[in-house]
Amino acid sequence: MRLVLLGPPGAGKGTQARMLEGQLKAPQIASGDLLRTAVRNRTALGAEAKSYMDKGALVPDELVLKLIEEHLNQRGAQSGFILDGFPRTVAQAEALARMLETRKERLDKVIALIVPNEEIIKRISGRRTCRNCGAMYHVIYDPPRNVDICNDCNGELYQREDDEEDTVRMRLEVYAASTKPLLDHYGRLGLLAQIDGLGRPDDIERRILEAVGLNGTPRTGEAKG
Ligand code: AP5
Repeated sequence: MRLVLLGPPGAGKGTQARMLEGQLKAPQIASGDLLRTAVRNRTALGAEAKSYMDKGALVPDELVLKLIEEHLNQRGAQSGFILDGFPRTVAQAEALARMLETRKERLDKVIALIVPNEEIIKRISGRRTCRNCGAMYHVIYDPPRNVDICNDCNGELYQREDDEEDTVRMRLEVYAASTKPLLDHYGRLGLLAQIDGLGRPDDIERRILEAVGLNGTPRTGEAKG
């Protein structure tokens, strides 16, 4: 399955991509995570990307495309992937289509998570991420067992630097101006499914699975009622 997850900042793309990896047997490729890793590792690409990310602006296409192409070429992504946070502009979508065409592949579905801005602010302000394994929590909706400690690996939980209020506002503006047009783009290509992103993560996962034709099989494997 070759899937794209679209949605504004905080819509739950990362949460759903991680949940869907096992169901779809396809790895998550998250452009934001790849960029943050490059920043942390102080690579040349990371140094260039950081100034854009700190402002909540988009990182230039050539940098992002380079990272994505590298990851699409990795063995795990040969038979499928879940793209999270990429593409983010029509130009990136066209570049992705070209990359896939040379591999004789195509996207199966594009899922757009629809979440109102007031909910996005609540989600982003409470988000905590594990520095070690990347697991995601929310101080109210999905708190860790011990404050600021990851349940999975005991790593330290932190708040992303670009989750500060002014930067989030900028990210929402950038989404509306540059990424939202992708809904029409993929709608015209007949690939788009718009999914209500409100509710429990399990319910949203079920809606996505239904949209990709997997009958909303729950993660636990229980039969759908
Ligand atoms: P990126 O990391 O991609 O950030 P984003 O798109 O703004 O999305 P987020 O990671 O903030 O949110 P999400 O939708 O994954 O939500 P999450 O699951 O975490 O990009 C960061 C920056 O990198 C960009 O600003 C840009 O500078 C650069 N960049 C990245 N890709 C780029 C590209 N392609 N081109 C150019 N630049 C690029 O959930 C959020 C919170 O809500 C969590 O706490 C979670 O626990 C909670 N939550 C999730 N689901 C639910 C639910 N159903 N109910 C209640 N809480 C929930």
